[in-house]
Amino acid sequence: MLAVPFVRPSENMVSTQQGFARSRSLLLVAAVIFFIVAVAAFLRADDAGPDVDEEIFNPGSSADREAQVERGKYLALAGNCASCHTTGSGEFMAGGLAFDTPFGTVYSTNITPDAETGIGTWTGRQFLDSMRRGVRPNGEHLYPVFPYTAFTKVTDEDIAALFAYFKSIPAIRMTVPDNDLAFPFSQRGLMSIWKAMFFDAGVYQPDDSESPEWNRGAYLVEALAHCSACHSPRNLLGAEDADRHMAGGVYADRVRTGELRPWSAPNLTSASTGLHLWSHENVSAYLKTGQNEYVETFGPMNEVILNSTRHLRGDDVEAMATYLKSLPPQEVRPGQTADNSVLGMGRTVYNLHCGTCHLPTGLGDVESAPRLARASLVVQESNPASMINVILYGPELPQPPFPTRRRKPMEEFQYLLTDAEVAAVATYIRSNWGNTGGRVTEKQVAAQR
Ligand code: HEC
Ligand code: HEC
Ligand code: HEC
Repeated sequence: MLAVPFVRPSENMVSTQQGFARSRSLLLVAAVIFFIVAVAAFLRADDAGPDVDEEIFNPGSSADREAQVERGKYLALAGNCASCHTTGSGEFMAGGLAFDTPFGTVYSTNITPDAETGIGTWTGRQFLDSMRRGVRPNGEHLYPVFPYTAFTKVTDEDIAALFAYFKSIPAIRMTVPDNDLAFPFSQRGLMSIWKAMFFDAGVYQPDDSESPEWNRGAYLVEALAHCSACHSPRNLLGAEDADRHMAGGVYADRVRTGELRPWSAPNLTSASTGLHLWSHENVSAYLKTGQNEYVETFGPMNEVILNSTRHLRGDDVEAMATYLKSLPPQEVRPGQTADNSVLGMGRTVYNLHCGTCHLPTGLGDVESAPRLARASLVVQESNPASMINVILYGPELPQPPFPTRRRKPMEEFQYLLTDAEVAAVATYIRSNWGNTGGRVTEKQVAAQR
């Protein structure tokens, strides 16, 4: 398994001195990299981390304890722990959900208070270290699929409340599958290098120049709700690009028909193709009810809204909208324009298959389908992956307890339309009625099949 990277001198290299010198130095570089990897693989976090007031884990009276558990329950909703730690058929918070990353599969863990397979024997301090620093009680580093890059900003008191809540839920004995990661990513110790490069542990620091409401919204969005885990672009090593915070990211999730596909999570800054399109009320209504006057939730946002944001208090959702609407615009270049022949084909497909519901004006109708003209962030997003998923596989209509509208569902067009036709209709929608998303290529459609 420990494949040493080696260099085979190419034919025209062996004949020259220079070639030998180069392959020798390449070998040296490879050996040094291998050495670093081998050493790093065994690294554990052995420092104790910053001081914490241990009293927060032991509130005095039983009334205080009850209040702490209630608060923890609410915070667990805000952090959407259940979406990742509960499988469709599994027990509450017993883990086992698979996350497919470019480096392999990571499984969420059992966070019920079972002593053997869960966190039953953990101390409050150990729980805090996992959330704040991504470190296990035995010093092993956790993978950032667990969004501790956001949870690190949660306050000590809120982490203590979460711990009290997780101690209070039913203990489930359940061992989750082992992670299936390619070497060297299978070595947890390597995360120490990743953390040194990309991770700053530390509680959210309020901005005194902003209102308490704004700060509350920032805390919820950035620390607990971890919106940026999906909505920020990531680099090749899977770290969020801090310079392009919330400017749009990619996330692998199931489409309506069950297959795993990339989804684009749109730009949530005030860019002209981002949240600039929506008012404060549009944002809060969407997070609270899964719909606003323009769109309705579908895809990966279903779980975010269903299991998390719709449970939050009205004032908290308003605070999140206030903060989100204040994100400085991160404009992206407008999409490429398309040939008239492509637009013509797109118009034909649209009028034949889409216009009956979304209307020829693209304005949609409460009775039939959402608006596509200058309203949907998904339609405008520079990466069309989510829009293509909707067209190929159909949107997953919200189920009760979401308010449902008596609409004819949109069908899946994967068998009806060719890649060229899907690309043309997507291009037509993204280039029409003031939309600026621009051209979608056949290759982009083929990649989502
Ligand atoms: C986006 C998915 C996701 C969300 C949301 C999430 N987790 Fe996790 N969590 C994971 C994964 C995956 C792991 C396993 C990481 C690993 O193996 O390194 C994990 C690991 C953990 C661990 C470490 C357990 C151990 O055995 O080492 C704790 C504690 C934890 N999560 C608590 C929480 C809490 C509390 C919340 C909500 C506030 C939460 N998680 C939300 C995916 C998630
Ligand atoms: C698990 C990944 C993930 C998380 C976490 C997430 N989003 Fe999204 N979001 C997506 C994806 C993918 C889309 C596009 C497809 C869809 O709407 O589901 C999206 C779409 C959106 C849209 C545009 C909807 C439309 O139809 O135009 C808004 C607004 C949004 N998200 C806000 C948020 C906010 C606010 C948060 C944090 C509370 C958040 N998202 C957390 C993945 C995510
Ligand atoms: C039978 C009516 C119907 C037809 C025909 C139809 N749609 Fe839809 N479409 C809907 C409904 C309803 C939704 C909203 C689903 C949801 O949000 O849960 C939707 C959602 C969408 C969205 C996501 C918009 C958003 O909220 O961001 C896009 C994009 C879309 N349709 C494109 C198309 C295209 C392209 C066609 C033709 C190839 C088409 N639709 C045909 C009913 C229809």
